[in-house]
Amino acid sequence: MRVTISDIKDMKSRGEKIPIITSYDYTSAKIVDTTGIPVILVGDTLGQVVLGYDSTIPVTMDEMIHHTKAVARGAKHALIVGDMPFMSYQASISAAMHNAGRFLQEGGAQTVKLEGGVSMAPTVHRMVSSGIPVMGHIGLTPQSVNQMGGYKVQGKSLKAAVQLMEDARALEQAGAFAIVLECVPASLAKLITERVSIPTIGIGAGKACDGQVQVFHDMLGLFSDFAPKHAKQYANLGETISSAVTEYISEVKDERFPGSEHSYHIKEDVLAELQAQVH
Ligand code: KIV
Repeated sequence: MRVTISDIKDMKSRGEKIPIITSYDYTSAKIVDTTGIPVILVGDTLGQVVLGYDSTIPVTMDEMIHHTKAVARGAKHALIVGDMPFMSYQASISAAMHNAGRFLQEGGAQTVKLEGGVSMAPTVHRMVSSGIPVMGHIGLTPQSVNQMGGYKVQGKSLKAAVQLMEDARALEQAGAFAIVLECVPASLAKLITERVSIPTIGIGAGKACDGQVQVFHDMLGLFSDFAPKHAKQYANLGETISSAVTEYISEVKDERFPGSEHSYHIKEDVLAELQAQVH
């Protein structure tokens, strides 16, 4: 049975932490899904860690749908959140509705995520009223990197902290089922978590959040262009891949690969006949 948004809200009520990981393709989604993780986010971070862009700004709806479809083919248990890319929801509510619908109808996601608080509340309300569950995302919102003047911790001044609290409350009132808090001081994230009824999901927002989200490639040591302070590396698959490929190169050069067990064979008598027939 697939995890639902009610299951996620119940986890907050029970005080059970909510781990979330990103995924962008069939194979990783299948592996991650078998761990029993409750939520998979097809994040627009795929722009950086999969497609090699220098930010999430260039990511398109078609790219997001392509990857969401692959994840949906691999993950049968986790709730799948499709991340709405830059300019797929900001220009108008009707464009936002159309694009959010694509995540559910074409992508196979059950929910969507978008960046913004008070200013996005009417859009979130409209989506939720139409049956599209929404995860909010406030604090550091990478699609607004140009407006924010860089990737910086948010909510450090009193004014900014009050604004973040208002953003969280606006999303809650609009019907969002959860809110990502990215790069927010831990004490502020704790206060927000205590004051809203829906789960907060932290990334660089301390341990008081109801859940945590991490980027697959950061966690597993697959992405080396930069390492955010809030990312914990649980494995170094980049190194594992590099040494495996290096070993493969030398085995091919030394003719140690392929071995007999990796080759296909015909019967001796067929081979003898063949050799007799061809000159
Ligand atoms: O795109 C993404 O992966 C995200 C997480 C970092 C929250 O939005």
